[in-house]
Amino acid sequence: MHMEQNTLISTNCSAEKSLSKPLSTHHPQLPRKLYIENYGCQMNFSDSEIVASIMAQQGFVFTNQHHEADLILINTCAIRDKAEQTIRNRLLVFNQQKISQPDLIVGILGCMAERLKTQLLEEEKVVDLVAGPDAYRDLPRLISQVDQGYKAVNTFLSKEETYADIAPIRLHSSGVTAFISIMRGCNNMCSFCIVPFTRGRERSRDPYSIVQEAKKLFEAGYKEITLLGQNVDSYSWHPSVASATDPLSNKANDQVIHFSQLLAMVAEIDPTLRVRFSTSHPKDMTDAVLYTMKRYPNICKHIHLPVQSGNSRILALMNRTYDRAWYLERIQAIRTILGPFCAISSDMIAGFCSETEAEHHDTLSLMDEVQYDFSFMFYYSQRPGTLAARKYPDDVPETVKKRRLSEIIAKQRAHALMHNQKSIDQVHQVLIEKRSKKSEAFLQGRTSQNKIVVFPKENYTIGHYVDVHITNCNAATLFGTVVA
Ligand code: SAH
Ligand code: SF4
Ligand code: F3S
Repeated sequence: MHMEQNTLISTNCSAEKSLSKPLSTHHPQLPRKLYIENYGCQMNFSDSEIVASIMAQQGFVFTNQHHEADLILINTCAIRDKAEQTIRNRLLVFNQQKISQPDLIVGILGCMAERLKTQLLEEEKVVDLVAGPDAYRDLPRLISQVDQGYKAVNTFLSKEETYADIAPIRLHSSGVTAFISIMRGCNNMCSFCIVPFTRGRERSRDPYSIVQEAKKLFEAGYKEITLLGQNVDSYSWHPSVASATDPLSNKANDQVIHFSQLLAMVAEIDPTLRVRFSTSHPKDMTDAVLYTMKRYPNICKHIHLPVQSGNSRILALMNRTYDRAWYLERIQAIRTILGPFCAISSDMIAGFCSETEAEHHDTLSLMDEVQYDFSFMFYYSQRPGTLAARKYPDDVPETVKKRRLSEIIAKQRAHALMHNQKSIDQVHQVLIEKRSKKSEAFLQGRTSQNKIVVFPKENYTIGHYVDVHITNCNAATLFGTVVA
């Protein structure tokens, strides 16, 4: 993977030097207003909180109204073509805004920025600034370039950047749950996936900085931490790899730390702090992680273990490096070590290159064997530059992909409903996260198994644990009442 060689290192685009944008007329005494819009996965969400922190240091204040903003940053996703089309449609809206507000700055961050680089400036005239996932420390300089009338790009991918020393500003937070990125990038080369190209090489963050961040959140009243990475099971940190960007690294301790140890370190902060993690890769998920989950009641009993396909030939084409039997053995390990009450969820892709009807049925039969609690399900979208795009024709017709996907979704819905029905008459501990979306008179939270539970508000408060007797459900939600 030679992605670094293709990227621009923090350049002005000289072709754009024609001062196409008026110099900023912003009054220097007034703080400038920043609006951030977020797309894609939890990692992007977590990155936006780092960006917010960097921009706050520059004196920007936040607004949740893009009409009020001096600077709009869109943190983008490139995982499927549809994700990129959504961003392009959104840019039409900001283009309109720019007509009446010519010194508005529009910046594209994240995976679409990394994938398209300067091409974005050529194709989307409204865009002033393009910054990839490892370039956020450079945002102040990029913005000052734009203030001087230039367009600005930095899509350099780093081998070290983990933003470990930047305290994220929690955006849209209820003050109960928070994400912490424990690693960046991905070294797997799943043939369908754009992430290794947009996020670069895998690197793990200093565990002591992770524990510090989790402790601070707990002291501020947070009750749940989700540790994030594209492949958390390959988390590995050795003091000798601590970089200059990791000033919090504790070089005195010379031991390699793997994910199971990190998980225990975070779980030990306090028994009332819930710990979750995502995503686990079937080839790397160790029994050590499962035993750590068993040892700590505050590590939530839910594993997201994306299978992608139930057919071994397709899994090989996808370069997932496990087959159906390996995957089912990992499911068995979860059941053996953690028992039947650990929820398991998955991601599935319908209609990957050359997938036959029989191979699609292998995905359905695997679903019957595992009986996932929930899943994220997609049909295959070819991504330029990936191994699959270069090697395998995207030959399953869209109508077939969509039909297969709908069969997968229907099966998943049936399994989710079955699991939820089993919860009826049980009592589950729920961490209260927010008001129910549907009614002011109800609160909602999640069980350890990551099931959403809705119950009457009465006098209960957000951020507390309650025991809820489940009385009803649908495929997505459990309903119940708090027991004394
Ligand atoms: N790191 C995680 C997944 C990250 S992407 C893992 O390895 O499981 C989230 C999900 O998007 C993937 O699990 C996959 O199901 C889906 N996905 C990725 N690329 C895709 C593509 N080209 N078309 C359709 N779905 C895709
Ligand atoms: Fe993509 Fe595979 Fe890495 Fe997940 S593990 S981010 S699917 S390349
Ligand atoms: Fe996430 Fe989308 Fe990038 S899923 S890693 S934001 S391509």
